[in-house]
Amino acid sequence: MKLNKIVFPVAGLGSRFLPATKATPKEMLPILDKPLIQYAVEEAIDAGFTEFIFVNAKSKISIKEHFDNNLNLDISNLTKEKKELLNQTNQILPNNVSCSYIIQDEPLGLGHAILLAKSVIKQDPFAVILADDLIDSQKGVLKQMVEEYKDNSSSIVSVQKIDKSNSIHYGMVSIREDNLKSMQLNNIIEKPLPEDSPSNLGVVGRYIFCNKILDFLEDTSFGTGNEIQLTDAIKSMLSSYPVFAYEFEGVRYDCGDKLGFIKANIEYALKSSIFGDELKEYLKTRLIR
Ligand code: UTP
Repeated sequence: MKLNKIVFPVAGLGSRFLPATKATPKEMLPILDKPLIQYAVEEAIDAGFTEFIFVNAKSKISIKEHFDNNLNLDISNLTKEKKELLNQTNQILPNNVSCSYIIQDEPLGLGHAILLAKSVIKQDPFAVILADDLIDSQKGVLKQMVEEYKDNSSSIVSVQKIDKSNSIHYGMVSIREDNLKSMQLNNIIEKPLPEDSPSNLGVVGRYIFCNKILDFLEDTSFGTGNEIQLTDAIKSMLSSYPVFAYEFEGVRYDCGDKLGFIKANIEYALKSSIFGDELKEYLKTRLIR
C-alpha cells in the first residue's frame, strides 16, 4: 500500500488568535504573502503526496476557495511581475493532486477530525500535517519523514526538544531505553505538567500513521479539553504497533499563537530577497532607539 494520502485538519476554532480568527480561518493567516495552509500544501506536494483530504468547518470555506478557484483577470494590462504572480497563484496544485473536503460539524478534537477522513483514507497508511505548525527547513519535514518511513505497520511522529516548562502545550513522548537509536516510543502524554512530563521531547504537527490508528481512534473517548485526542489513540496503539519519534531538522513556529506568528513573519521577511535587507535596516533603527 502506497503512502500518498495526507490529511489537513483545518476545522479548529483558532481561539488563541481571536479576534483575527472570528471570520478568517487561522490557516488563511499569511506569513509574508502566503496563507499558512499553502505552506502546508506545498510541503505535502514536495514530499510526493497526491491525495489531499481537508477536514474543514463549514464556516471556513475560504480554505477550499483558495485552492479551487482561479483568478480570472484581464492580463493584457498587467506588468510582467503581476502576470508571473497570477500564474503562481493559479497553479498551486499540480495536475496529479486530487483534493477532497470533509466537514467537521463541531470541533470535537484533532483525533475526531482525523477519524472523519476514514471514508477517504480507507485501508491506506496516511500522513497528517497541521498547518499552524510552520517549519522552516532546507528539506521539508514531511519529505524527511517519508525518507525515514519503512513499513505500513509502523508510524512516525515528528518531535522537537522543548523547554520542559512548556510541556502543557504539547503531547510529550518518552523513548524505549532498549531502542534509543531508533527512537521507538514507549509513552505519550497529552499536555502534562512539567513535573509529569516523561522527557523534553514534544510532538509537533507532522505524522505518518499506519492505518490501524483509525481503529484506535474509534475506541478513544473524550479526553483532555473534552476532545477526542489523537495523543490518546497513539498511546493505545503503542503496545501493538510501533511508533517512532523523528527529530526533524528545521525551525518550527507555532503560528496558532500570536507571538509565534509574529516571529515567523519577521524571520520569513528577513529572508526575503525582495525586502529582507530593507527590513533589517528598519529593525536596526527600531532597536537602537
Ligand atoms: P489546535 O488545537 O492548534 O487548533 O489544533 P485550534 O483548536 O483551532 O486552536 P485554538 O487552541 O482554539 O487556538 C491543531 C489543528 O487541528 C485542527 C485545527 O484546525 C488545527 O489545524 N483541528 C483541531 C480540527 O480540525 N478539528 C478540531 O476539532 C480541533
